[in-house]
Amino acid sequence: MKTLLTEEQLQEGIRRMADDIRKHYEGRQLTIVGVLIGSVVLLADLIRLLDIPLRVEMVQARSYRHGSTRPGPLVINTDMLTSGVRGRDVLLIDDIFDTGHTLWELIPQIDELGPASVRSAVLLRKAGRCEAPVEPDFVAFEIPDRFVVGYGLDYNEMHRNLPYVAALEPEEL
Ligand code: IMP
Ligand code: MG
Repeated sequence: MKTLLTEEQLQEGIRRMADDIRKHYEGRQLTIVGVLIGSVVLLADLIRLLDIPLRVEMVQARSYRHGSTRPGPLVINTDMLTSGVRGRDVLLIDDIFDTGHTLWELIPQIDELGPASVRSAVLLRKAGRCEAPVEPDFVAFEIPDRFVVGYGLDYNEMHRNLPYVAALEPEEL
């Protein structure tokens, strides 16, 4: 395992992204929608840096097959949106933008619920992997095409609790 982003670097990048988000939504109420499970660590840190009125909601998206680093079929569950997003400014939060399929499939499902706007923020964007005609609006860090864990990101559901982001070596996968 090789550390790509230290705790200090993560906090600095997230603070920068929070500043951009705050400026963008100045004077409006925000509905943050976290994508479970990977976004929870970012979500917890990010919302505490956003001193604007906001709600927090969650959806679930699962694509990675157990025991694999290759995405399987994507399953999205928006049933857990409690107070709804109709007429609200929605900011989707995910851990990493990789192929883009998650956002590409999730955004239209949120759109169907009638929000005022839908944007997205991710901790990481992996270089050269995008396969969908969509881009996240806010990105804290660009990273090389490596499989990474920590700060919410998992490999077989493990390592989400690491306070830093590390790339797994090929022999660890
Ligand atoms: P996308 O749909 O390909 O953009 O992938 C987004 C989802 O894939 C993320 O929310 C992660 O759950 C997962 N993912 C993609 N790359 C990695 C990685 O390097 N480590 C851990 N999870 C990843
Ligand atoms: Mg995920």
